[in-house]
Amino acid sequence: MITTSTVSVEPAADVRRHPAAAGAEVSIRPAERGDAPAIDRLVAANVGPGLLLPRSSADILRHVSRFLVATRGGEVIGCGELAPLSKTMSEVRSLVVVAAERGGGIGSRLLAAVVAGGRRQGAARVCAFTHIPRAFVAQGFSIVPHTWLPEKIMTDCQACEWFRRCAQYAVVIELGGSRGRGPRRGSP
Ligand SMILES: CC(C)(COP(=O)(O)OP(=O)(O)OC[C@H]1O[C@@H](n2cnc3c(N)ncnc32)[C@H](O)[C@@H]1OP(=O)(O)O)[C@@H](O)C(=O)NCCC(=O)NCCS
Repeated sequence: MITTSTVSVEPAADVRRHPAAAGAEVSIRPAERGDAPAIDRLVAANVGPGLLLPRSSADILRHVSRFLVATRGGEVIGCGELAPLSKTMSEVRSLVVVAAERGGGIGSRLLAAVVAGGRRQGAARVCAFTHIPRAFVAQGFSIVPHTWLPEKIMTDCQACEWFRRCAQYAVVIELGGSRGRGPRRGSP
């Protein structure tokens, strides 16, 4: 089960210009169906600059229960999804914080919460493809060759226009979960 956490973060510059939002806490919680349009807008705003892969509104709505959202004063200011790629591997997708709120630690909080969800679900490994590996490495991910993630290549990469000329870093973290693994040899 994904739980809600409330964290205090330093307000970003734009928030300091809006007294009503200043001082409001940032909460991270599971997304609800009503959050889908806000998630859609967050993702769409980062597709053009080439930071995120495009997602259809229908796809986001179908998978909205996999998302966590960060909110301030009730407004969705960030999101991230944990999507299963195989029985043992899950992927962080569509991790984004609204531009005005970046650099204040919200992305790190979201990523930590998404990974914690993977750990609770028993995932053995969580991966991501990203232009910003630093945010992931800071949380224990390692940069690996793309070919170490065949699940991702089979699922998405082969159909992607950037296949074989992709500039993104593949990152992975070992969680040690046992989801999808058979019983250990010698276990009853
Ligand atoms: C990636 C993103 C979610 C990070 O959110 P954020 O709230 O700014 O992140 P944080 O403030 O928690 O910073 C996390 C780390 O990432 C680093 N970082 C963030 N943006 C960066 C950038 N554009 N380039 C290099 N490093 C960056 C920070 O320096 C920080 O590292 P540090 O703690 O070692 O200094 C945000 O920049 C974003 O929405 N980017 C556009 C979408 C995207 O690229 N998503 C990632 C695809 S998986």
